This record gives sequence, C-alpha cells and structure tokens, in this order.
Amino acid sequence: MITSACGVDFGTSNSTVGWCRTQCHPQASPLLALEEGKPTLPSAIFFHDDDEDVSHGRAALADYLAGYDGRLMRSMKSLLGSSLMDGTTEVRGRPMPFRALLTAYIRELRDRAQGDAKRVFTQAVFGRPVFFVDDDAAADKLAEDTLGEIARDVGFADVAFQFEPLAAAFDYESRIQSEELVLVVDIGGGTSDFSLVRLSPARAHLTERRDDILANGGVHIGGTDFDKQFSLTAVMPMLGLGGELVSGKQVPAMPYIHLASWHTINNVYTRKMQDMLRQVRAEAVDKDRLDLLLRLVQERAGHWLAHQMEQAKIGVSDNGTADVSLDRLAQGLSVSLTRADLDRAIDQLVTKVDDTVGTLLTDAGIRADQVDTVFFTGGSSRVPLLRERIGARLAQARHVEGDVFGSIGSGLALDAARRFPA
Ligand SMILES: Nc1ncnc2c1ncn2[C@@H]1O[C@H](COP(=O)(O)OP(=O)(O)OP(=O)(O)O)[C@@H](O)[C@H]1O
Ligand SMILES: [Mg+2]
Repeated sequence: MITSACGVDFGTSNSTVGWCRTQCHPQASPLLALEEGKPTLPSAIFFHDDDEDVSHGRAALADYLAGYDGRLMRSMKSLLGSSLMDGTTEVRGRPMPFRALLTAYIRELRDRAQGDAKRVFTQAVFGRPVFFVDDDAAADKLAEDTLGEIARDVGFADVAFQFEPLAAAFDYESRIQSEELVLVVDIGGGTSDFSLVRLSPARAHLTERRDDILANGGVHIGGTDFDKQFSLTAVMPMLGLGGELVSGKQVPAMPYIHLASWHTINNVYTRKMQDMLRQVRAEAVDKDRLDLLLRLVQERAGHWLAHQMEQAKIGVSDNGTADVSLDRLAQGLSVSLTRADLDRAIDQLVTKVDDTVGTLLTDAGIRADQVDTVFFTGGSSRVPLLRERIGARLAQARHVEGDVFGSIGSGLALDAARRFPA
C-alpha cells in the first residue's frame, strides 16, 4: 500500500481528517468520510456496560441518549495539559486511564480515515489550539507532547503540529485571488483561536511563512463553556441553584457546577454526594426544586440535560428561541429560552474572547481598519453575540464564513501535503 500524509483536526467536539489525494483542489474537499458518509466524527466514545461494545461519534451519542447502560465520554481534548490526564475514570467497573481513552479515540479516527482513503497514513499534521492551556507554557508543551505520543502510539510515525487558525487560513487562501490581511476567528467547542495572517495565492505553496504570520492568539473559552453558563443561569435555578436553606445560607452551588460540565457530571452520582443532596433537600426552603434535582440524579440524566442545553444554545443561535423539555424530571415541564437569556449567560465569556482579539491586534501593531477580511470558522462562531462583538470591532473588514466544521481539517490536509511531499 502507498503511504501518505493526512491532516488531523482532533477537536473538543468534532474531529475531521483531510487528505489531498493528488493535489489539493479548491473545488474538491479533502475531507474523508468518517461516519455515515459525513466528514465529521463527533469526539465522543460510549462504552456499553453489558458487553465489550464501544461506539464512537454520533453513534456514541445516540446510544447514550437511547438509554443504554454505559459510560459516555466527550470533550476528551480538554484533558490534554490538565492534571486529570494522568488519572483514570471508571469504565465497566474498572479504572481506565484517560490517556487510553484518548488513544482509543484517535486510533478510531485514523482507522476510519484509512478506511475511506484506502491508504495507510503514517505521516500527519495535527492541529493544535494556540494555547492548550492558558498562561502555563510547561503545561501547554506537555499537552502537545502527550498528543504527539498518542499519535505515534496509534501508528503515525511522523507527526507535525500546526496552529488550528493557521490551518483555517491556508484553507481560505486556497480560494482567494489577491493578497489580503486576514484575521482568522476560530471559535470551537473548547478554545477560541486567532491568527492574523497575510494571505496570497502567490505565496501559498511556500512552506516557510514566518513573515506572513503577524500574530497568533487564543483563550481557553469555547462552546462547552457557553453550554455550562447557559445551564447554570437559565435552567439550574429551576432545580434549586441560588435558593435558600432554612438557616438562611445558600443551597451549595457545587453539585450544579459539576452537572453543567460533561467531565464532572458523574461526580454527582456518588453515594456521598447523593446523601449530601438529600440533606440539602431536607434543609431547603423550596423543596420542590430540590426534588427535581434529586430526580435528575436518580435518573442519571445529567448528560441528557447537558445535551439539551447544547441543543438549546444552537437553537437560540440559529432561530432566536428554543424550548427545553424537562419532562424527564417532571411531566410537562419545559422552559422557553431566548436570545436575551443566552446573551446574559455568556456575556462575560464573550467579552474575554473579544478582548483577546483586541490585545492580539494591539500587540501586532495593526489597526482594525487595516484588516481586509475576518474569516469565521468553528461551530461556536455561529453564536450571534460573539459574531456581533468581533464584527463590530472590525466593522470595515469583509466578513467571510468558512466551512465552520471543515476549514481546519481541509487546511491541515494542505499543510500535510506541503510538509510531507510524496
Ligand atoms: N449553530 C450553532 N450555533 C452555536 N453554536 C454551535 C452551532 N453549531 C455548533 N455549535 C457549537 O460549536 C461547538 C463545536 O464546534 P467545532 O466543531 O468547531 O469545535 P471543535 O473543533 O471540536 O473544538 P476545538 O477547536 O475548540 O477543539 C460546540 O460547542 C457546538 O455546540
Ligand atoms: Mg476546532
């Protein structure tokens, strides 16, 4: 078999693999089909309890939501560079190292890509956020090293890394006719990443682009943080968050915070935590709300609620409103959420993301009116408040939306073809 180089966008929420079959062509997508003919594989694994079955991607989410007993893992990329990375999680009653989990997912990604390409991939350019970890260079390096080791463990003998927003820039560059100063805005599930680059069809083939890259920047805020805040401000109060105990103290926030993030939902299911919650219910002024929380825990419905909140965020972003059905907690219970609810929940996060853009431009010595184009990519670039804030900062620039889920993988494929020529 012929070996070739591919580009791997291992995302917090979705992953893609791109490969330039012969020559990357602007009209033909280099993305390989990873699940049901689609180019994305959601970054999720579901371990079934009753047999050795493991499902990935959409199938993992569907199996979990269908109510099979087992363990669903998502947002695994966020483990890179965190202290959790050396830890384990319980799968089928046994401790499973988080590292093995990431390895299993990336192996699956490679297998599926090879299956579609009918090639063995031994060389790859992996995308990476500008910062895996904010303000900690050692942890950031460790994150990249760990991902590199995992990539080699699954069979990529040669691994290179590229900043995700630069990959998106290369994808956009393959479609322009003249030189442009471009700000790439890549808002994904886990991180917001930016590159300020001079793009030009004439220089696109060069491997050395240092002079064209004016700045890279990023912050560890993405769609999963929006989901968390949306949940905490719009729905968790219905389950008692912010309420009072008869003593006048507040209902403890910690269980709600655990429930609002994928990684920590299982912490609320321990016997100790359930005993604590029953105690809180006994002392709560509004016991009906705590009953809903206890029901959520009894039903092991934390991941289901987190999924509902993500869907509500997407619904509000696309249509202005969304209804969240809470019928698993009480028959007929639902809540209508609007753009105002979402904006209130994420306002501070959006401010931080927008400030990061401001700092990046200042540090690069570039005025907003010098930027020709803002290229939006990443699923969370669809969040209206974010788009509006960054758009207003760069009001004179042309605003272009890329393939929000595919730009990075396509750009990595181009980069792989340039760095590992056949
Ligand atoms: N229409 C939409 N409106 C708002 N958010 C959306 C929309 N569609 C998807 N999202 C969000 O986009 C995020 C996923 O985007 P994407 O696939 O670009 O992330 P990723 O590449 O996996 O993450 P990262 O690059 O941070 O590792 C999720 O948080 C998802 O909820
Ligand atoms: Mg991404």
